[in-house]
Amino acid sequence: MQEHHVAPAPTNLQVLPKNLTGEQVHHIMHQWAAELGTECSTCHVADPKNVGPNGRPRMNFADDSKPEKSTARLMYRMTEEINSKYISMVDNSGMPVTCGTCHRGHLSPAPFTPKVEDDDHDHPAAK
Ligand code: HEC
Ligand code: HEC
Repeated sequence: MQEHHVAPAPTNLQVLPKNLTGEQVHHIMHQWAAELGTECSTCHVADPKNVGPNGRPRMNFADDSKPEKSTARLMYRMTEEINSKYISMVDNSGMPVTCGTCHRGHLSPAPFTPKVEDDDHDHPAAK
C-alpha cells in the first residue's frame, strides 16, 4: 500500500458498488467534488498519524467521521432513486439527475428565485 500513483482498492464503500476499483472511485470522487465546487477535505479527514513525504498528513478516505460524508451517502442514494424510479419513466430521457443538477458547483444549493413576468410590459410573444 505504499504506491502513490495507484489508487488503493476501497475498503469502506457502503453505497457505491463494492466491486469498483480504486481508479473508478477516484473518478467518481473528482466528479462529485467538481459538481459541488468543493475539495476532497469537505467530506474526508486527514490522518495526523500518517504524514507524507511533503510533511503533510495523508487523507484517510475510509474514515467516516465527517458529517458531510454521511450526507453525501444519503444524497447518492436519493439521486439513484430519483433516476431509477422516476427519471427512467420519462420517455427518451437521456438526462439523468446528477449531484450537479441541484448543486451547480455549490456545497449548499443556492435558492432559485424565478423572475416574475410583468404582463403590462412588452411581451414579445404576444405582440
Ligand atoms: C461530497 C462529499 C465527498 C467529496 C467532496 C469527496 N468524497 Fe470521497 N467519498 C465520499 C463518500 C460518501 C464515500 C463513501 C462511498 C460509499 O460509502 O460507497 C467516499 C469514498 C472515497 C474513497 C474510498 C475510501 C474507502 O476505502 O472506502 C476514496 C479513495 C475517496 N472517497 C477519495 C476522494 C477524493 C480523492 C476526493 C477529492 C477529489 C473525494 N473523495 C471527495 C464523499 C466525498
Ligand atoms: C434533487 C437535488 C439534489 C441532488 C440530486 C443532490 N443534492 Fe445534495 N443537497 C441538496 C439540497 C437541497 C441540500 C441542502 C439541504 C439543506 O441544507 O437544507 C443538499 C445538501 C448536500 C450536502 C450537505 C451540504 C452541507 O452544507 O453540509 C452534501 C454533502 C451533498 N448535498 C452532497 C450531494 C452529492 C454528493 C450528490 C450526488 C451524489 C447530491 N448532493 C445530489 C439537493 C440535492
